[in-house]
Amino acid sequence: MKDNYYFDNAATTLPKPEPVYQFMDQFFRSHGVNPGRSGHELAVEAEMMIIETRRLLGAFFGFGGDPARVIFSQNATDSMNAALSGILNPGDHMIITRMEHNCVLRPANHFERDHDISVTRIGADSTGFVDPEEIRRSIQPNTRVVVVNHASNVTGSLQDAAAIGKVVRETDALFILDTCQTAGVVPIAMDEWGIDVLVYTGHKGLFGPMGIGGMIVGENIEIRPPRTGGTGVNSISPFQPEQYPYRMESGTHCLPGIAGLNAAQKWFAELGRSHGADSSGSHGEICAAALAHVHETETSATQHLIDAFSAIDSVKIYGPGPGQPRVSTLSINIGKLPADQVGAMLDADHAVCVRPGLHCAPDVHELLGTVSQNGTVRFAPGYFTDSEDLQQAVEAVRSIVED
Ligand SMILES: Cc1ncc(COP(=O)(O)O)c(C=O)c1O
Repeated sequence: MKDNYYFDNAATTLPKPEPVYQFMDQFFRSHGVNPGRSGHELAVEAEMMIIETRRLLGAFFGFGGDPARVIFSQNATDSMNAALSGILNPGDHMIITRMEHNCVLRPANHFERDHDISVTRIGADSTGFVDPEEIRRSIQPNTRVVVVNHASNVTGSLQDAAAIGKVVRETDALFILDTCQTAGVVPIAMDEWGIDVLVYTGHKGLFGPMGIGGMIVGENIEIRPPRTGGTGVNSISPFQPEQYPYRMESGTHCLPGIAGLNAAQKWFAELGRSHGADSSGSHGEICAAALAHVHETETSATQHLIDAFSAIDSVKIYGPGPGQPRVSTLSINIGKLPADQVGAMLDADHAVCVRPGLHCAPDVHELLGTVSQNGTVRFAPGYFTDSEDLQQAVEAVRSIVED
């Protein structure tokens, strides 16, 4: 019997791999100094760890450009806002999808209302998939960016980012991919897929802590600085340095957060090696083997839930059908019960942690017709979900149905 059965990995992963906790603790104690500022040995070593993490993340995401373009920020929301406001100008047009999270929907709404930017919102089919051809049809001469959520945090639908990238590459627009639900879950090939700006968050599939995230800015893409301030370099200059990463990063870094990402990257590499990756391969190639294993582990947990829930008459399952590309996130509802009520019962009576509600993605619930039920009940198995968790989740849902 566990204290909690955790199915809220789409919100944030729990637990993290053990080396993440250990290295964060150890590095914060030994090198908890201001990196890249003071020039003493400890500060230089802290800076070296940051540089190494930029390199590891760049390789992990299939980015062959300068690792200085791997940017750190607080989280994906911070980076998405920075990217959009650093790229868009009044009179521009942007394309988003109705599968987006509020970290895209709300900035787009504000740009539209307050900054003379027109927005096209592409729909999705009933299982949550966007048609790349509809993006092609929506391109206008002034389309500056196309923003797509790689995998839905409501339905788990995994979009064909390579096909979308191909469409956008044929235009003058930039392709921004929100990888919050896919980074550390499926391999991502930034250069190959034509992603111009890749936005990531650290605390989900990348197994870092909260408070760290960022973006990778493709070569030849210039984004205006999101804010200006101290960078530790060229302090005499009255203006923000032009070079990356200083252009995009002002103020003291979240060193423990970056240490967490660093340790997690090494954990992925170790996992890849133990799952058949050739040790002489690149960090990206080695981690691809890890991601194949992570994805298989997580989606087979989801399949277990789908099989069990499908056998219960009053459970409705949303999202991809058999064989359609997905991540582990699964949304359901039980009869006409409001999602928040089911979430509260799962928590209080069965110690099952899920996320009920709209999941910061209101348009998805408009598409699914679940707004009036206060959204859906979201089960998001993670890499560390085990058979005891799955059994408890299924029994808990059965018991709510039978009550
Ligand atoms: C698809 C998607 N985009 C963006 C975000 C925002 O991430 P963060 O809260 O870390 O900024 C989330 C987090 O729930 C998400 O699932």
